[in-house]
Amino acid sequence: MNKAKINYVVDFLMLLSFIVTAITSFVIFFFLPSGVRQGRYQEFFGVTKDVWSAIHVWFGMAMILIVILHFVLHWNWIVCMTKTIFKRTKKNKKNKDKNKSVREGCKE
Ligand code: HEM
Repeated sequence: MNKAKINYVVDFLMLLSFIVTAITSFVIFFFLPSGVRQGRYQEFFGVTKDVWSAIHVWFGMAMILIVILHFVLHWNWIVCMTKTIFKRTKKNKKNKDKNKSVREGCKE
C-alpha cells in the first residue's frame, strides 16, 4: 500500500472513531445523565448506559491512537511548516533562503 492509501485509511478511521465518540457522548450527556434515580438500568434505544459508556471509551481510545499515528505520518510536514513559519517571522537577514519551503511546498 502506498503512502496516499495509508493516509486515506488512517484518516477515514480517525473520522469514524470521532463520529462514534461524539455521538455516544451526546447520548450519554443528553439522554443518560448521572444522578437520576430510576431503580433500574438507564437505557437509550434499548442499550444500557454501561454499553454506551464502553463504546464511547473504546472508540475514544482508538481515536487517540489514530490521531497519534496521523501526527507520525505527517511529522516531516509538521517540522517543515514549523521551521518555515518561524523563519518567516524571525526577520533573520542571514537566512536568504527563508521562503524556500513556502515556494517548494513542504512534502508529506
Ligand atoms: C469528541 C470528543 C469527546 C466528547 C465530546 C466527550 C464527551 C463526553 C461526555 C459528555 C461524557 C459523559 C459525562 C457524564 O457522565 O456526564 C464522557 C465520558 C467519558 N469520556 Fe468522553 N468525550 C470525548 C472524547 C473522549 C476520548 C477521546 C476519550 C478517551 C478514551 C474519552 C473518555 C471518556 C471517559 C473515560 C468517560 C467516562 C465514561 C463513564 O462515565 O463511564 N472521551 N465524555
